[in-house]
Amino acid sequence: MNRLFELPKPIIFAHRGASAYAPENTMAAFRLAAQQGVEAIELDAKLSADGEVIVIHDKTVDRTTNAKGAVSQFSLRDFQQMDAGSYFSEEFRGESVPALRQVFEEFGRKLYINVELTNYATPRDPLPEKVAELVRLFHLEDWVLFSSFNPINLYRIRRLLPECPVGILALEGLAGWLARSFIGSWFAPHIVHPYLRDATKSFIQKQHDRHRRVHVWTVNDPLDIQRLFEDGADGIFTDDPVVAQQIRNRL
Ligand code: G3P
Ligand code: MG
Repeated sequence: MNRLFELPKPIIFAHRGASAYAPENTMAAFRLAAQQGVEAIELDAKLSADGEVIVIHDKTVDRTTNAKGAVSQFSLRDFQQMDAGSYFSEEFRGESVPALRQVFEEFGRKLYINVELTNYATPRDPLPEKVAELVRLFHLEDWVLFSSFNPINLYRIRRLLPECPVGILALEGLAGWLARSFIGSWFAPHIVHPYLRDATKSFIQKQHDRHRRVHVWTVNDPLDIQRLFEDGADGIFTDDPVVAQQIRNRL
């Protein structure tokens, strides 16, 4: 059985790792999340030019590395040589852009992992197939959950890994309405990942009535965390797993 259904609730996902304390989507951020005692991490997966799954959020490398250009133009070797740490602080200079394989090697079966399929700029690429191959290779079928704003990705990954849960990400407000309603229930009957302000108590209740879980992104304000826990959210994505765990411990 997938571990999602055995984790303590509400689940705390360290968003892009412990990204309040370390550069997002780096091994340092995932290591810190583990050290801080959190049970789950979220990361953003994309393909490199040579077809390796790498972990980076934006379409370009400009904001988080010392290089410039579209993610899809760089090879794994390029990503290994990039500095994805010093934009955050000097202390992290030399952190590279990790491959998903590295994350699975170090954290597989230690942390529960939400892999967000983020090939939004290249939706026809074989990202779901490559990610599924790695999950099988590392035997992590019970340790991963997939999410995406693109429901086609979820449809594809479910065919490859039917035993893994999928969560449909919904944009804020009107833009995310379809994902929070019938598209969500068609592709992802188990989980919906709404934006913080759309995750009202009645929305959460309605999803529970339909036997769907609710994981909310991205929740950093302690008052919001407290409110969501009280309103019955099944999980949250947060940059600050320390504060979220303190609040959960007081429930
Ligand atoms: O999965 C939650 C959250 O990561 C979705 O948005 O843009 O931070 O990947 P984003
Ligand atoms: Mg993400």
